[in-house]
Amino acid sequence: METEQTLVLIKPDGVQRGLIGEIITRYEHKGLKIIAMKMLQLPRVAAEALYAPHRGKSFYDLLINFMTSAPIVALAIEGQNAVELVRILNGDTNPRKSEPGSIRGDFSIDISHNVVHASDTPKTAERELEILFAADERCQYRRIDEAIVNAVSNVTQP
Ligand code: CMP
Repeated sequence: METEQTLVLIKPDGVQRGLIGEIITRYEHKGLKIIAMKMLQLPRVAAEALYAPHRGKSFYDLLINFMTSAPIVALAIEGQNAVELVRILNGDTNPRKSEPGSIRGDFSIDISHNVVHASDTPKTAERELEILFAADERCQYRRIDEAIVNAVSNVTQP
């Protein structure tokens, strides 16, 4: 199993609705590790770099304007299969399809105001993490529950 890092952004709607703690708690309770975190108003150049793959799409200008309109919270998250697990916790991009129990399923109804962003592949994650965090901003530490949360091979049999 691969230990991966991924980027999550709590979007302006998530910050302004007071959902920061609720959202971070979901990743932490899953067993994923927060290794960097900051609140910032995303500079336009950073938003354009982040969302470059969407340039030219009908929603691109709306997306850039929204993401730069007010503070966001950026998180670097680490764990086994972190990219896939975070996207499952977030739910489908379109809140009309996201399952109850997921972040978007529980807290959003509009695709433009879907509370969170997360990287879609490990390769994308590395590119997106570099936009938001310097290498020395990602911390290394052990969670006290790592041996229990992670691979079965770590578990001591009675
Ligand atoms: P996000 O995960 O941040 O990635 C791109 C964002 O574009 C997406 O979440 C949505 O908030 C936003 N968006 C708006 N309209 C669409 C659309 N029709 N399809 C995909 N993403 C959209």
